[in-house]
Amino acid sequence: MSNLQVKLNNIYQFVTSNEVFSLKEKISNCQKMVEEKSGKGNDFLGWVTLPAEINDDLLKSIEKVAADLGAKSEFVVVVGIGGSYLGAKAVIEALGSSFAMFENGGTKVIFAGNSICEDFHAELLRLLDKHTYSIVVISKSGTTTEPAITFRLLKQHLESKFGKTEAAARIVAITDKSKGALRKLADSEGYRTFVIPDDVGGRYSVLTPVGLLPIAIAGFDIRRFVDGARKAMQDTSANVPFENNPSCLYAAARNVLYAKGKKVEIMVNYTPKLHFLTEWWKQLFGESEGKENKGIFPAGVDFTTDLHSMGQYIQEGERFIFETVVSVDNPKRHLTIPNDPENLDQLNFLTGKRLSEVNHMAELGTIAAHNDGGVPCIQISIPELSEYWIGYLMYFFERACAISGYTIEVNPFDQPGVEAYKKNMFALLGKPGFEEKGKALRKRLGV
Ligand code: PA5
Repeated sequence: MSNLQVKLNNIYQFVTSNEVFSLKEKISNCQKMVEEKSGKGNDFLGWVTLPAEINDDLLKSIEKVAADLGAKSEFVVVVGIGGSYLGAKAVIEALGSSFAMFENGGTKVIFAGNSICEDFHAELLRLLDKHTYSIVVISKSGTTTEPAITFRLLKQHLESKFGKTEAAARIVAITDKSKGALRKLADSEGYRTFVIPDDVGGRYSVLTPVGLLPIAIAGFDIRRFVDGARKAMQDTSANVPFENNPSCLYAAARNVLYAKGKKVEIMVNYTPKLHFLTEWWKQLFGESEGKENKGIFPAGVDFTTDLHSMGQYIQEGERFIFETVVSVDNPKRHLTIPNDPENLDQLNFLTGKRLSEVNHMAELGTIAAHNDGGVPCIQISIPELSEYWIGYLMYFFERACAISGYTIEVNPFDQPGVEAYKKNMFALLGKPGFEEKGKALRKRLGV
């Protein structure tokens, strides 16, 4: 049966299979730490069994709210940043039409609250002036600056457009069950809410309402998505031996490469639909592993377009990189290259070939070229872009990330470094309590 595959053949010019398998015991211990909740950050391991625990009542209430918002809105604006948006964005981009925004029918999901760009927000409000819309506001802490600013703007806009009562019926908040400013506001305004479990951190939350509600609003089958994750949970569990366990093999391979000085991992895709899966993966691994002056730097490229830009560096630049190529075996649609009697572009040898075949040869040719240039390639493939296989793939990565973080002995579930910029930003903006810091910073920065 087709399944997610992890292929390591194209790293073996650089490391041996013995070296990968030498991590077997360490990785098995890390697996135990994940399942027995005995490692660092063990109060954030709720995501491990989440696929098996999501119940029908929760799925039904998500589907009901999605249908209700969809029925009365041309747009649903999902407000959130980091782990509170990248998972849903990745799934919707992977599964939807590349031109969904321009097609008739279906509620369009717009993501906002992930920047402080004035033009973006002004343009968003201008668009929403002319359309019906609802808001899903997502923040686990309930205090994150970017989504809070966006929500302030949107709440006022929605209330002046529809009146306070109707606006409240068009706002859904996803947040902590009892703490934080968003919970307080949602309770006092009477918004419908969903809860982010205490033991699931933002970047591991795609299988909570954080991911499931926007995915359902966009019209995708969240039950199949959960089914895929559920199967991945079985296939990556500690009962599955190292050599058959895709998350263990991936975690081991990337750590052996890291130990050999390959400090940058570039995720490669051959379909622009996976661009945001890479963004989600970058956050997952970057925020989980990049601490205590350790961790592989996760980067991403979209091929073949980036072969015409970053391809040069990958082929011949500094040799501290490896690639992880994520490919999809079967496209959803069918398109062949037509014959051209004039053949000025000399491409008639491709007549009748499917674009996916040409794309696949580009992929194989690139892997061989990059290998020749000193770049090892881990290959991960899924059978198709469907709810099931994206759910499978995301859980597979979450599991691999936790194991990999434990392998380098960091806490894969915290993000202390994210606070540094926030403190400086608040100090520069004159937040009460930050006066001294603000003065020192302004002097230092000459502003
Ligand atoms: O992974 C994480 O925990 C972070 O990326 C958060 O998701 C992000 O900072 C947003 O936080 P919050 O949901 O509290 O607004």
